Amino acid sequence: MTWHIRDVTEIGGQPLHPETLMMGYGYFPGLSEGAVKCPIFQTSTFVFRSAEEGKRFFELAYGLSEPGPQEAPGLIYSRLNNPNLEILEGRLAIWDRAERALVFSSGMAAISTCLFALCRPGDVVVHSSPVYGGSDYLLEKVLPQFGIRTVGFQAGTGVAALERAVNEASALGRVAAIFVETPANPTNGLVDLAACTAAAARLEARQGSRPPVVVDNTFLGPLWQRPLEHGCDIVVYSLTKYVGGHSDVVAGACVGSREVLEPVHLMRTILGTMTDPHTAWLLMRSLETLELRFRRSVENARRLAEFLRSHPKVESVSYLGFVDPDSEEGRLYARQCLAPGATFSFYVRGGEREAFRVLDTLQLFKLAVSLGGTESLASHPAAMTHSDIEPQRRAALGIADNMIRVSVGIENPEDLLADMREALDRI
Ligand SMILES: Cc1ncc(COP(=O)(O)O)c(C=O)c1O
Repeated sequence: MTWHIRDVTEIGGQPLHPETLMMGYGYFPGLSEGAVKCPIFQTSTFVFRSAEEGKRFFELAYGLSEPGPQEAPGLIYSRLNNPNLEILEGRLAIWDRAERALVFSSGMAAISTCLFALCRPGDVVVHSSPVYGGSDYLLEKVLPQFGIRTVGFQAGTGVAALERAVNEASALGRVAAIFVETPANPTNGLVDLAACTAAAARLEARQGSRPPVVVDNTFLGPLWQRPLEHGCDIVVYSLTKYVGGHSDVVAGACVGSREVLEPVHLMRTILGTMTDPHTAWLLMRSLETLELRFRRSVENARRLAEFLRSHPKVESVSYLGFVDPDSEEGRLYARQCLAPGATFSFYVRGGEREAFRVLDTLQLFKLAVSLGGTESLASHPAAMTHSDIEPQRRAALGIADNMIRVSVGIENPEDLLADMREALDRI
């Protein structure tokens, strides 16, 4: 076998699939003593072969000069670049068919670095609600401290709500970004991505600059939803969830075109919000099984959702697989989602007491926040992830006291059903 130093992305004219490319894309054993697996480049800094080379690397890194046709940026310092981060970024971009990905120390680092790169004092951000509790805090409490106002609209309520928010925002100032989380955490409400890109185009005509549409794709991506294909500009991820997949890392990413990510990259370099080589290495390992794990979780989630729907102690189930295909939401689901995912919420009959009873009785489902790991988790959004949202607003968003959110893992589905049956029987 030859030691290639180029990527094999097609064989006999057949393009290779993302799950195949995860085993080797961007890594060349010949450059690392033949090691099958990419080593961990656990180093803060890199040696230049000459002062001239160091000078050239900095010119390229700081954008002082354009690279030549065959020239790649050189390695300088691990806050700027590192082989583990670069290989991981190349592989992540493949799933979203994107030009570029940037990896961060957490999902919140990705989201906040991205919004700080796009916004200036006086700007306005339009956003969907609910969003993950940390994102909500950033939008409602942190950005306003920097003179950046936010206008929200409720996910799952149709295009008119988005349009009202866009009009309200543009009366306040330049709209710098449209930030949406779809499906929304924890209600699974959907936001119409095509309507967001149309709104961005209208704003461009009105204000002279297009606000990037930024989509938190943590719940379905990158397998079951690809926002860039709907004209969105930046996809953000908490890699802590399905991509990491083992509940053992915290990391995040922004994915998009080179051009749109350029200011985000610069902001990451200055804020130092990149991930570290060891975490990047663990994420490369995770990407090798992403498709297998996520597919199994989706199958298990379908079984559990069906079980819960027919259980007398369950009031309702917010599962995307149950949306009426003839409704507006059903048509939107068919247009932009490829599967219902494996994280959803259900409402038990009763209130907090009954929900807590279920959570305290479950044995296989761990009582923990987060999602997307191999093990199943259950949590209470109103008292946990979304507890710092003002109670009236929380209730209006559908985050009720009798709501339980589950992230379904890859265990045997019969065991998961037995666990849930036992817990519901104890109410
Ligand atoms: C949808 C969503 N986005 C972003 C985040 C934040 O990610 P992290 O915890 O990796 O900072 C989370 C975390 O739960 C999330 O659920």
